[in-house]
Amino acid sequence: MKAAFFSFALPAVVSAHGFVQQILLGNTLVDTWNPYKDPQKNPAVQKITRVFKDNGPVTDGRFTSEEITCNIGRDGKNNIPVAYTASVAAGSAVKFYWTAWESDHPGPILTYLANCQGECSAFSGSTGNVWVKIDQAGYDPDETVPWASKRLPTQNSTWEVKIPSKLAPGNYILRWPNVQHAEGRIRHEILGLQRTNTNGSLAQFYPGCHQITVTGSGTTQLPTGIALPGAYQPDDKKSIFLEYRDISASNPYTPPGGPVWGDNGWEN
Ligand SMILES: *[C@@H]1O[C@H](CO)[C@@H](O)[C@H](O)[C@H]1NC(C)=O
Ligand SMILES: *[C@@H]1O[C@H](CO)[C@@H](O)[C@H](O)[C@H]1NC(C)=O
Repeated sequence: MKAAFFSFALPAVVSAHGFVQQILLGNTLVDTWNPYKDPQKNPAVQKITRVFKDNGPVTDGRFTSEEITCNIGRDGKNNIPVAYTASVAAGSAVKFYWTAWESDHPGPILTYLANCQGECSAFSGSTGNVWVKIDQAGYDPDETVPWASKRLPTQNSTWEVKIPSKLAPGNYILRWPNVQHAEGRIRHEILGLQRTNTNGSLAQFYPGCHQITVTGSGTTQLPTGIALPGAYQPDDKKSIFLEYRDISASNPYTPPGGPVWGDNGWEN
């Protein structure tokens, strides 16, 4: 990953959380949904991102509901398809530009794909084992900053993944790097550590969904993946309900959501 450049300026008031505000798909830079600027726009914006409410997390146990699929929507409506997709060739790099990400949310960064089986505007994604993880970074003791989400600010709040080269053309949902706050809200002293360490419901997830059309001559279909909601449970002591400070080279961390799939099949 790239070295640090400069931090993305946003009003301090919203800096504690984050969302992806642009995506570089191959050579095309696409503006994604901005929950602070876009709702009031007239005419309505034409974006590839399913609408979400703000930069905050899906937490307090709500991550076992459909809010985990594409983040908490607006007006009680979650995971509503949008009418647009952006094209990207199989094998391309995809770079997510986060708003300035503060370094006090230790956890993994995970990216998933789901095949829309036709138009993404007619596909939910909230049911079935449709989510296939294509990239993950958890706790890597070989890195100067081992937790993936804490490395994010050291690389200009950007994160790069690759669309598998063999992937068959079609419409897909790219679920953005899902930064998970593995242990709960430890950045303020509002919650005692004892409490957060003993309640997996307090894990925070920052997901989002972008509709893409993959082009190219690939012939490989996505395999069966995991269900979201479903795969993330607050009593999961391996990935969610844990004390992040216990993780080390000798006590490795396993991100939730199973192994990663790519051009070489399942990788771990
Ligand atoms: C764990 O947190 C959830 C969500 O905040 C809460 O509803 C639940 O009562 C908590 N459980 C315990 C044992 O504290
Ligand atoms: C750093 O992030 C900003 C804001 O997203 C972006 O405009 C800029 O191109 C990025 N710089 C690099 C070197 O990626």
